[in-house]
Formats: sequence, C-alpha cells, structure tokens
Amino acid sequence: MARILDPVLIAQISDCHIRDSVGMFGGLVDTSETLAGVVRHLNDLNPAPDLVLATGDLTDDGTEIQYSMFLDLVSDLAIPLLPLPGNHDVGDAFRAAFADRLPDTVAEGHCSYVVDDHPVRLVGLDTLIPGRHDGRFDERHEEWLDRVLHAAPERPTLVFTHFPPFTSGLTFMDLSGLDGADRLRDVLKRHPQVKLLVAGHLHRPIQTTIGSTLVSVCPSTGNQLGLELDPMSGSAVDEPPAYQLHNWDGQNFVTHTATVWAGKRMDLSEFVAEVHRRSAAGEGSPKS
Ligand SMILES: [Fe+2]
Ligand SMILES: [Fe+2]
Repeated sequence: MARILDPVLIAQISDCHIRDSVGMFGGLVDTSETLAGVVRHLNDLNPAPDLVLATGDLTDDGTEIQYSMFLDLVSDLAIPLLPLPGNHDVGDAFRAAFADRLPDTVAEGHCSYVVDDHPVRLVGLDTLIPGRHDGRFDERHEEWLDRVLHAAPERPTLVFTHFPPFTSGLTFMDLSGLDGADRLRDVLKRHPQVKLLVAGHLHRPIQTTIGSTLVSVCPSTGNQLGLELDPMSGSAVDEPPAYQLHNWDGQNFVTHTATVWAGKRMDLSEFVAEVHRRSAAGEGSPKS
C-alpha cells in the first residue's frame, strides 16, 4: 500500500455525454470530438496524472453503442480510469461496459466502491435512482458510506460521486438534484479524514466546503451550463471543454481547472529559469 504522505495527482473528467444518433447537443458540441481532445491533453501532461476519475454521465442514454464509443475514445488514455455512473448512464449497461475496471468491492444494489491502492483512499459513491434524473442518498447509502469511512479514519480520503450534495444556485439543476443531500453532508462532517469530495452533473467548475471537506464540481468534457443565477433562467453554452486536476501533496489538496481549446501560447521558459536562479540565490523577486 502507498504511504499516506506520498503525493498523488488525480485527474477528473465528467459529463462526457457521448451520443450516437442525436448528433451535437443543441448544435453546440460534438461530445466525441471534445472527449478525444481531453484525452490528448491528459496524455500530454507532465507530470502525468496517476489516475483519472470519470464522475458520471459518461454517455447520454446509457446504450451499449454509446459505452462502446466511450471505451473506444478512452482506449488511447495512458492513465488508469475509474468510472462512476451519472443519471444519464444506465446501471446494468454501465457495469457490463466497465466490468474490467470496477474493483471487486462494488456495493450490492449501487455501484459504489473503495480503492485503497493510492496515498489517498478513493471512495466512489453512486446515488442514482434507476429510470430517474434525480438522485438519492438514503439509509442504505449512509450505512455503506459510514461503514467504509469508519474502517480507515486515519487515511486521507477523496469521495467521488455524480450529484453534488449542496445548493449551487443553478436552480433548475438544484431542483432535480440529490434527495438526502443533508444526510450526506452529515456523514462527511462525522469523518474529517474526507479531505475532498468531487462531483459532476452541474457542467461548471464550482467549489464550496462541507465541514472541513473541500467540495469541487468538475466541468464537462463537452458542453457547459451557463452561469445563470436567476432562478427562472438556464442555458447550455459552448464554453471550452474542461477537466480538473486534484494534486495531493501528502497533506493538502490543490484543485486546478484546465480548459481544452486552441488558445495562443507564449513560452515563458527563460523567465521561469530566471525565477529559479533568483530563488536559489535567495534574491526573492525584485523588479528589474
Ligand atoms: Fe451531465
Ligand atoms: Fe448528471
């Protein structure tokens, strides 16, 4: 088992919504093309992430063909991927598609599981309700999560799930969100070793805290939702595809949001080298 104080770099992708026959969502985004771009981006990262969490809505309708398209798109990924379903996935098809990536510890009745191979303990939490677009964290989930977290209170832990357990202000999403979010928040407050909870579903980068736990929502690898806090408004937008990197340095998490688009780049390597030289010489950062 990895030592607790070792670092680990965790990438997160979410809400890929791979489609087959329906084409681009709202005429905005070809989600297969954007996921392929995210995979290239992840493969080019230096240092490379140790693993990728995929936090649900990996397909749009949960069909066999869409899972096969998703698996084809991530087949070039040089980093191990841990999948979790979202409300657009379908449980049985999801488990069949990812049978060789899901650990033996998957819970009965929901696709939740624990991975203990990294410096940070990873707990995947599935709160889907079959056939519905909202989710539920009920007594059964509470018993499972409490038991899992009680088993290793000294291990820094990351919980990954699809539905964010807080009110985001994107009202139409909040209204169709997670029933039992307060129950989940109470569990997190009882287990302060949960340093970070990451989710998806909202198609925007959003952060908050629950007790001492940092909570982060990952944007979509396809289309984003507009930042509209008017309760009667809502939109989908073609803001760039994105993913997140959660960097555990042995004591704390730092989360970065990366967008994937054809922007301009100015090389700063000479300046970077000068900053390193000044730092090594104890000069600080004078204006020159
Ligand atoms: Fe989604
Ligand atoms: Fe969702």
